Amino acid sequence: MSLFWIVLGQPGGLEEMATSKKLITREEWEKKLSDVKIRKEDMNKLVMDFLVMEGYVEAAEKFRVESGTEPDIDLATITDRMAAKKAVQCGNVEDAIEKVNDFNPEILDTNPQLFFHLQQQRLIELIRDGKVEEALEFAQEELAPRGEENQSFLEELERTVALLAFEDVSNCPVGDLLDMSQRLKTASEVDAAILASQSHEKDPKLPSLLKMLIWAQSQLDEKAAYPRINNLSTATLEDPRDL
Ligand SMILES: *[C@@H]1O[C@H](CO)[C@@H](O)[C@H](O)[C@H]1NC(C)=O
Ligand SMILES: *[C@@H]1O[C@H](CO)[C@@H](O)[C@H](O)[C@H]1NC(C)=O
Repeated sequence: MSLFWIVLGQPGGLEEMATSKKLITREEWEKKLSDVKIRKEDMNKLVMDFLVMEGYVEAAEKFRVESGTEPDIDLATITDRMAAKKAVQCGNVEDAIEKVNDFNPEILDTNPQLFFHLQQQRLIELIRDGKVEEALEFAQEELAPRGEENQSFLEELERTVALLAFEDVSNCPVGDLLDMSQRLKTASEVDAAILASQSHEKDPKLPSLLKMLIWAQSQLDEKAAYPRINNLSTATLEDPRDL
């Protein structure tokens, strides 16, 4: 008996385990799937949500007309949200701040963390452009007072100012601040804050559903062999591997 358990514990033993899994054939699976009803309106809502969140404003407008699906936010605001986000992505932070304020001045007033990150991004852009004196002045006048209010702001400020201490920033420990990814991070904070001001969630729902699918499949893998979706872009059901 104990030998049996030792064998099971070995790498080869797993195959023996696999035989206890239930096999679900393609036929059975497709029958089960065809019994699940999905409402067209629900799918349309998900598509609309995706277009709105990703900023495909013209597509969203067309889709609204063609499918009769009403978006849950005013489509005209998508353009403004995208413009603010794009401004950060291009390094025009002052412009972005102005756009956010035009959109709704309460966003920055009520969100000190976002405001700090935008100011920090502005400092990063000054440093990137080699405007050392302007950068130091800006850090002292605009960012240092925020650092006094909040320890974590102070640490971020120190990390950012440290960029000025290196000859070769591409190779320094804080060089990541100059990466495109830093701009993208700040831009997505802007995006999320504007959406929040519209009482909207910050993430599109379609990707969450796909994540859920991947998770559910991985749970099911432990119990059964079944036609699996391995490629999300084709959503093809792959035949279960022979047991
Ligand atoms: C400081 O900022 C962090 C986020 O950067 C926030 O979580 C924290 O609540 C702030 N602390 C104070 C005292 O405002
Ligand atoms: C999924 O299938 C498409 C079309 O056949 C292919 O181009 C793509 O590379 C596949 N993706 C993965 C992750 O295998």
